[in-house]
Amino acid sequence: MPFDLTQPLSWESAAGDAAVMLDELQPNIVKAHTREFLTILFLKFSDPAGGRALLKALSQPPTGTPLLKSAKTHLQEVKAFKATGTKGTPYVSVGLTGDGYAALNIPAPKIPPDASFRSGMKNAGLNDPAPGTWEPHFRDAIHAVILVGDQMSGPRNKALTAVRHLIQACHGVHILGEEKGHGLHNSNGDGIEHFGYVDGRSQPLFLTEDIDDERLTTDGATNWDPAFALNRVIVPDTAAPDPSRHFGSYFVFRKLEQNVKQFKKQEKALAKRLHLKGEDAERAGAMLVGRFEDGTPLTTQFADGNHHPVPNDFDYDSDPNGAKCPFFAHIRKVNPRGSGGFEQVDVERLHIMARRGQTYGVRTDQPNDGRIENKPSKDVGLLFMAFNADIAEQFEFAQSTWANSPGFPRVPPGAGAPGLDLVIGQSPNPRPDIHCPVEWGGTTTATTTATPQAVTMKGGEYFFMPSLAFCRSL
Ligand code: HEM
Repeated sequence: MPFDLTQPLSWESAAGDAAVMLDELQPNIVKAHTREFLTILFLKFSDPAGGRALLKALSQPPTGTPLLKSAKTHLQEVKAFKATGTKGTPYVSVGLTGDGYAALNIPAPKIPPDASFRSGMKNAGLNDPAPGTWEPHFRDAIHAVILVGDQMSGPRNKALTAVRHLIQACHGVHILGEEKGHGLHNSNGDGIEHFGYVDGRSQPLFLTEDIDDERLTTDGATNWDPAFALNRVIVPDTAAPDPSRHFGSYFVFRKLEQNVKQFKKQEKALAKRLHLKGEDAERAGAMLVGRFEDGTPLTTQFADGNHHPVPNDFDYDSDPNGAKCPFFAHIRKVNPRGSGGFEQVDVERLHIMARRGQTYGVRTDQPNDGRIENKPSKDVGLLFMAFNADIAEQFEFAQSTWANSPGFPRVPPGAGAPGLDLVIGQSPNPRPDIHCPVEWGGTTTATTTATPQAVTMKGGEYFFMPSLAFCRSL
């Protein structure tokens, strides 16, 4: 029985083809998998048989439990954990690039068709630094990625050892490089990124159980609808035995280094230029991000303090002039919540993607201690990861047409152009001046210089996370 991809899905009552889809889909796609400790291996195949053997061994070892579990198993583990505290198993996942499919001798018509995926991130035209300057393992043609994560380092290490043994046992599989991520938290226990702001809160939800939870256990879902159709995150796996029931997702990976010292300096300098005094100085950083460090949305409140739970049920209807949250704020640029002005709301929503990022790098300071001199200027950042059904329409649109474009969103007559997203915007041109509300919700705007770029892309690639059925079929 075919299922409706244009709606969210109830996993608990999924039957027929929907149940098969969940049994064959990799985890972390329709719902985030905990992965406080995460290792990511980038691979190259010099022997198609060895590469095939690796994917097969991950999904169907001759003996024992497969390292790759299904989305269904993951969802059952989450339910068991909530009910009885029983810990789930580690997250292991595999993805292939377009070159990777070719290196496994998969016939071209069967390779997932997304045009951006097939041409790769090096050709994406996102104003990224030239690929020749990326970290060495990203410069090469990557064929595959394996992610290994868990809530604790012990189980992650054990699963990683098992994965490394498999890699060694498969002829012609080479590790090009690896990345290590681990969670960063503030004193409220909320996940943060290195600039010190709560991250990962606003997500599209694809399961009716998660949508109900959002409505009932958070600030609600009245102003911002977090429900998204399944077809915004999964697509038929064209190389699998039965693409009508076997699905996968396009996986975007970007290593984004954060110059925290510079960002924190610039927050302070912006507060000074706008004459924001005392507690109000925090508003400068909140203008860059769109939320205060504790996650309080700037459009809903003039100061921090609204973080139990961190709200997400807001839009920009009460802020049409950017007088509370300016138009250049990161979260307003990458999700205008219906206020972008160029597209109908339902079309605008097509650009939203499931983000599954993880911070990387070790630091000895407290991210939220208010100091600047002890902040790192390199070697820390975000391993940006996101699942997409259409890379051009989702990730690339958000980065290029929204974050990198000074003319987005559409602003009321007389208001100056928004400028770049001051967290992730990239442009070969100088950053245009920004227009900032001097008082929260007031009518006076100050025009000042934009803060310089503090995030540098160090490399990345597009992958497809295939169905388990595909891996077993090799
Ligand atoms: C939200 C930081 C990269 C897209 C956020 C939030 C923070 C943040 C603090 C608010 C928390 C939340 O609403 O979940 C960063 C940093 C980045 C980065 C420091 C780089 C180092 C990116 C990239 C994209 C992106 C590359 C996509 C092109 C989004 C989206 C949201 C978001 C879609 C949710 C907005 C909403 O729904 O309101 N980011 N981000 N971010 N970010 Fe980023």
